[in-house]
Amino acid sequence: MYNKGLIIPGLVVFVFIATFPLWYNGLSAGTAPKPEPPPGGEKTCVAPKEVMRSQHMVMLNQWRDEALRDGLRTAVPADGKEYRKGLQLACMSCHTNKDKFCDACHNYVAVQPYCWSCHLAPADIAAKKEKP
Ligand code: HEC
Ligand code: HEC
Ligand code: HEC
Repeated sequence: MYNKGLIIPGLVVFVFIATFPLWYNGLSAGTAPKPEPPPGGEKTCVAPKEVMRSQHMVMLNQWRDEALRDGLRTAVPADGKEYRKGLQLACMSCHTNKDKFCDACHNYVAVQPYCWSCHLAPADIAAKKEKP
């Protein structure tokens, strides 16, 4: 009934095909993203780079709560200047290219922050000014 000569090779082929995506991707996770430094030439962020990398989402939530719920739109120092706490007011005034900065990482890790359904990226603001 069973064709022993086919079961083992068949299984080997099946395991090969079924696990292909696992080990194929393991060999190459794609090139790591290179977010573009601020085009304005600023040298430091609102916190050290390592902190920003891992904590920027937490920081943004805190800023939002402080600004909107507690009315604390205090100025934050960065790169020798002061910025008003805010996504558009602070972050995007240095990181003016959302596509090449924020999205460079977010596309790589497949996160899509929903912020931009209300907030405007600098490019959106520029586009609105061109076509009022
Ligand atoms: C449904 C619309 C909406 C969405 C979505 C949204 N926001 Fe906001 N956000 C607002 C409004 C309205 C304000 C108040 C603006 C003001 O009073 O100046 C605000 C203010 C803020 C502020 C405080 C100061 C400022 O003007 O930037 C921060 C920080 C902020 N949002 C971050 C975020 C982040 C991060 C996300 C995504 C995770 C997000 N928001 C998504 C509507 C939204
Ligand atoms: C004064 C201009 C300025 C402001 C305001 C600013 N940044 Fe930055 N940001 C920088 C600079 C410059 C760097 C690179 C720092 C370095 O290389 O040490 C950076 C680095 C980062 C990084 C790490 C990038 C990497 O290559 O790993 C993240 C993430 C980041 N910023 C997010 C934000 C967010 C979110 C905000 C708002 C809450 C913000 N930044 C506000 C200038 C700014
Ligand atoms: C160095 C890479 C990097 C850069 C640059 C970066 N992000 Fe992120 N961001 C991430 C990663 C990774 C996550 C997902 C973290 C997680 O899932 O815990 C994330 C998550 C977020 C979230 C939370 C989204 C969610 O759905 O949970 C917000 C909001 C956010 N980023 C805003 C920004 C903004 C605004 C900028 C540009 C000013 C920016 N990020 C630049 C890597 C980056």
